[in-house]
Amino acid sequence: MKTILASASLCFGILFMCVSFSTTGSSQIQVVGQTGPVVAKEGDDIILPCSLVPKGSVEDTIVEWTRSDLNTNKKVHLYKDGKDTVGDQIPGYMTRTSLFKEEMKTGNISLKLSGVKLSDTGNYTCRLPKENSQGTETTIRLIVDATTFLNIFRNDLIWNVTKVMPIVNGLLETGLIQKKVKSMISTAGTHQDQMRQLFQALDEGDVEMKSAFYSLLCKHEPDLTGKLVESLE
Ligand SMILES: *[C@@H]1O[C@H](CO)[C@@H](O)[C@H](O)[C@H]1NC(C)=O
Ligand SMILES: *[C@@H]1O[C@H](CO)[C@@H](O)[C@H](O)[C@H]1NC(C)=O
Ligand SMILES: *[C@@H]1O[C@H](CO)[C@@H](O)[C@H](O)[C@H]1NC(C)=O
Repeated sequence: MKTILASASLCFGILFMCVSFSTTGSSQIQVVGQTGPVVAKEGDDIILPCSLVPKGSVEDTIVEWTRSDLNTNKKVHLYKDGKDTVGDQIPGYMTRTSLFKEEMKTGNISLKLSGVKLSDTGNYTCRLPKENSQGTETTIRLIVDATTFLNIFRNDLIWNVTKVMPIVNGLLETGLIQKKVKSMISTAGTHQDQMRQLFQALDEGDVEMKSAFYSLLCKHEPDLTGKLVESLE
């Protein structure tokens, strides 16, 4: 009985090994980042972590950083043929990104981003596009604190934002605002009153909520946001 059990488990063991080898294929490289978001303030220099497991040199391969939340084929950073390539870069990231060349020898493909801007808030994917298997990309979220922006432009925003409900719905979808708060805002008489109520919720909210509000503002009120940002520069 014992031998039967032992050989049965041996069989399953071998079968399991075969299955896991065939699903991971020849490439067993994994790309790992960080589960929680990276939180930064405007103007900070930050590092978005990403590295290979097991450690290995990536000097001969392509390393790509993209914004998975933006609708663009352009890159945040592209390393190819042993050097950084700017032709395909999103203009707003030019001269602000770099990789740690020494550390790349040990598979560290973390991205340095200098002079963080509010518009950098988003999801960053680190990828080895030539490794055609699962696990060779990872996404890290960057949250840039919008508290200062909201304080400076509180009145402008209260007076001039008209797409209040689309913004509130966006916050509701991501679970950042409660349904009852949304109902309260939607029954307010004017856009201004709606914005005042929304600001009350924002004042009590965390960094994530404020940053999400800023992203939604860019989406629904691009002209207004552009004007406000420009007035700061
Ligand atoms: C970014 O990723 C987070 C979770 O990883 C997700 O909740 C959020 O919707 C993403 N943002 C965008 C704009 O895709
Ligand atoms: C990658 O390099 C950066 C910059 O030197 C460092 O801060 C980070 O800890 C490194 N990551 C790993 C996993 O070694
Ligand atoms: C917002 O509206 C106020 C009052 O109508 C106006 O004076 C101000 O210039 C507007 N601000 C922007 C950035 O459009």
